[in-house]
Amino acid sequence: MGEHKTTTPTPHIAAKFGEIAKTVLMPGDPLRSKMIAETFLSDAKLVNNVRGVQGYTGTYKGVPVTVMASGMGMPSMGIYSYELFNFYDVDNIIRVGTAGSFHRDVRVRDVVLAEGACTDSNYAAQYALPGTFAPVASYRLLSAAVGAADELGVRYHVGNVVSSDRFYNDVENSLDWAKMGVLAVEMEAAALYMNAARAEKHALAVCTVSDHLVTGEDTTVEERQNSFTSMMKIALETAVRVSE
Ligand code: HPA
Repeated sequence: MGEHKTTTPTPHIAAKFGEIAKTVLMPGDPLRSKMIAETFLSDAKLVNNVRGVQGYTGTYKGVPVTVMASGMGMPSMGIYSYELFNFYDVDNIIRVGTAGSFHRDVRVRDVVLAEGACTDSNYAAQYALPGTFAPVASYRLLSAAVGAADELGVRYHVGNVVSSDRFYNDVENSLDWAKMGVLAVEMEAAALYMNAARAEKHALAVCTVSDHLVTGEDTTVEERQNSFTSMMKIALETAVRVSE
């Protein structure tokens, strides 16, 4: 775990040790974190607000759950998930975010369960491995999420995503990932999966498709912020299933 001391609060999270549940849901957007807590959790209490990165701990169907924003991109997700896994002893982090689809069959509003996360980032360089690391989801979380998605009747896909360091590319070639069967692009899953692997913890990214890079299909900002109920239910039901 490097040279960092395992003390709480951390530089980026003000919660006391024990105020964060074993399972944490992480949307990118702090406002979505507040909305999830208000909509889905009982007895939600604000446990962090450093940099406006709101974190709430409450219960869902009696299971303690924390929802805290990751911010956008791998550096931000990297910091928060590292501190949660290593300093707060969190076991499971489920990212709940949006992704852009590369694939004709993966439509806007579908859910993508990210089995693997390719990346154009050099995040893995820190591990000094003699090859290319393949960031994968926790099978325990993934199989629970598949079970939950089936029960909820949500349209979902299980497969690879790519976590990109860039939303705006000077040369737009991100679609090249599609030739390797990669379904969608987002910006956080690979860092989350690498931190989980290194800490021997569990991670999964559950994404709703907010836009389509091939067909140009789109969703509104309001839809992005408010109407991703299916994804959140999959994540919350996954939290319940892995707590049993
Ligand atoms: N690129 C990166 N991240 C995203 C996108 C995208 O097109 N859509 C939603 N998250």
